[in-house]
Amino acid sequence: MPIKFDEKTHYFHLSNQQMSYVIGIEKECYLTHRYWGKALPSYAGSNQLQFIDRGFATNPFPEERTFSLNTLPLETSTQGNGDHRIANYQIRSQDGHDVTDFRYDSYSISESKSAIPGLPSLHATADVTTLEIILKDAVQQLEMRLIYTLFENYPIITRRAVYINLSETTVALENAGSMSIDLAESQFDLITLDGSHTNEANITRQPIRSGIHRIESTRGTSSPQHQPFVALTAPYTSEFQGEVFAFHFVYSGNFIAQVELEQYGTTRVQLGIHPDHFEWQLKSNDTFYTPEVVLNYSNQGLNGMSQTFHQLYQEHLVPTNWAQKERPILLNTWEANYFELSEQELINQAHKAAEVGIELFVLDDGWFGERHSDDSSLGDWFVNQNKLPNGIHGLAKEVHRLDMQFGLWFEPEMLSKQSQLFQEHPEWALQVPNYPLTEGRQQLVLDLSRTDVQDYLILILTNYLQTGDIDYIKWDMNRHLTEVGSSFFATNQQKEIGHRYVLGLYRILDVLIKKFPDCLFENCSSGGGRFDPGMMYYMPQTWTSDNSDALCRSVIQYGYSYLYPPIMMGAHVSTTPNHQVGRNTPLETRGWLAMSGNLGYELDLQSLSKEDIQEVQQQIAFYQAHRHLFQFGKFYRLQAPDTYFASGWLFMNDEEAIAIYFNGLSRPALPTNYLKMHYLEAEAIYEDIHTNQQYSGAELNQAGVLIPRVKEDFHTHVFHWKKI
Ligand code: DGJ
Repeated sequence: MPIKFDEKTHYFHLSNQQMSYVIGIEKECYLTHRYWGKALPSYAGSNQLQFIDRGFATNPFPEERTFSLNTLPLETSTQGNGDHRIANYQIRSQDGHDVTDFRYDSYSISESKSAIPGLPSLHATADVTTLEIILKDAVQQLEMRLIYTLFENYPIITRRAVYINLSETTVALENAGSMSIDLAESQFDLITLDGSHTNEANITRQPIRSGIHRIESTRGTSSPQHQPFVALTAPYTSEFQGEVFAFHFVYSGNFIAQVELEQYGTTRVQLGIHPDHFEWQLKSNDTFYTPEVVLNYSNQGLNGMSQTFHQLYQEHLVPTNWAQKERPILLNTWEANYFELSEQELINQAHKAAEVGIELFVLDDGWFGERHSDDSSLGDWFVNQNKLPNGIHGLAKEVHRLDMQFGLWFEPEMLSKQSQLFQEHPEWALQVPNYPLTEGRQQLVLDLSRTDVQDYLILILTNYLQTGDIDYIKWDMNRHLTEVGSSFFATNQQKEIGHRYVLGLYRILDVLIKKFPDCLFENCSSGGGRFDPGMMYYMPQTWTSDNSDALCRSVIQYGYSYLYPPIMMGAHVSTTPNHQVGRNTPLETRGWLAMSGNLGYELDLQSLSKEDIQEVQQQIAFYQAHRHLFQFGKFYRLQAPDTYFASGWLFMNDEEAIAIYFNGLSRPALPTNYLKMHYLEAEAIYEDIHTNQQYSGAELNQAGVLIPRVKEDFHTHVFHWKKI
């Protein structure tokens, strides 16, 4: 049994081949964190808790001055009765007090993992065991359930909390965190992925210091500013070795992730919905479900962490029918056309696309209403007949005739002030009475907390999808939320709207993907603005960044690869000079970068020279021949971007391996650089497909290959071996 409860010692031991996690019960009422790390055959409590009569400590049992909630390593914080570290929940009673006293009540263990009502979560039908621990506050008749699911074949536990009101009166959930853990160490580096629009997923690594470190979003979405992820590593941990404790939040709205290094050298980590702008009226007999956190343990460095996330998310997060499905090579019209669209021009582009081997033709923004720039028409999801006289059907028919799939862009969650929809339904925008509507990109946000708005969007999308014209939808979302209020809900529920918005979005997506499981949905929020596990539960790929410059992409994709496999990252070859940064990079380098994700093109193919067209054809043919490696092979980072932006990574499977090294900026005093593969099968023989020279995997792993000097910026070196 992977989860055991020892009746004598009162330890819960969750363990598989790779990892153990131990929870204790102190004084028969407080849940303590006892161990998380490499698998233990058994646990008997050798790392005893320390009980000291410390200054300022308060004591739930007055005669026991060494027992204080402020120093116990807990599995949930407590409220108002002695634990003064950061709190993962806060409940206000009807008479206005902020005190609870949750004590251990009971537990159950089951060999399954249930879905969370209304929320995305990892799915599994076998090889999982779930522990549910019930804590009760007897004074207010409240229940807190801590739910842990252990994955048998991964060093993974998911955690979440459920809050239940069994009393007759309503209480207010002011903070409803998903998890809290107290690790008995202080020597950690904290890793986060931070950035902005067009500059997502920069890796930040810093030693933790006394006090609180926090990343968050109060923007309504998970945001490009911070990925809802933190990892603690040993200071010596590298890509290749060392311990990592990673936490990733399966949620797409406001979040908070906090790490507190407290006075006696233990480290508390918490994740949950952001308590700012949040409060939930928990009525009598109501239950509040929090989103789930994925806890990932690695003792094989950051690559070890990423391998686990990559496989886990492919198998247990994205819709099952997309887990093993190859993704088509697409052409997206955005950077070639922006809002200037005509049917004839699109058909010409489609012909060219078919000629080079494109498999999916995607019509981006600009096809509907009076959408001639980004200042109008969101919400008016009817085709602009001047641009497309034969409608979406006419264009899709032509694209299908050319043997390509057809995809269409929507930004369903928005409405423009200049739109028929806004004229008809001004109350459908998120708003707060008497305050002006703040616009972003001259657009407003639909109030997705309202079921009528949700139903309307389901209807619009269903009408398009049921024609059979559309094989792919790019679901965009280009601004953050302001005036987060809704006339649909009572005054005391206005701080629920942020979460209700996310629940509304999830409901829409749930209905659509169940109705149209074969439609490929690509997640986008001005690129990676909402690239999070919550969205990936519905949509198996994301447009990684609006920045399509190859150099910038090498950094962005490197960062995102901590969590997501290349198959989840849309990556396009765009034109030069690049539209975001004005840089010229070789077509070859742009190709390798895009092949390191889900290959696509986003440029006017008609404007390319004959030689460039040939090169594009070769790229596409190469990717098609090795698509299995790029999309389903293992991906390892070999060298992080340095000051010259040089970086390298490796794709490998049982048949072959491709290492790609981006040279970044050329420099005269080039040091000798041997790129070591680290992960090839040591015993196997690998044959260079160009020279036919054979090497052992061990040699390539340990001695590496020379990166030759090239006097050219942004050059790419590629090494390709067949496994013999
Ligand atoms: C933002 C997206 O990230 C772009 O790719 C493009 O679809 C534009 N929106 C269209 O408005």
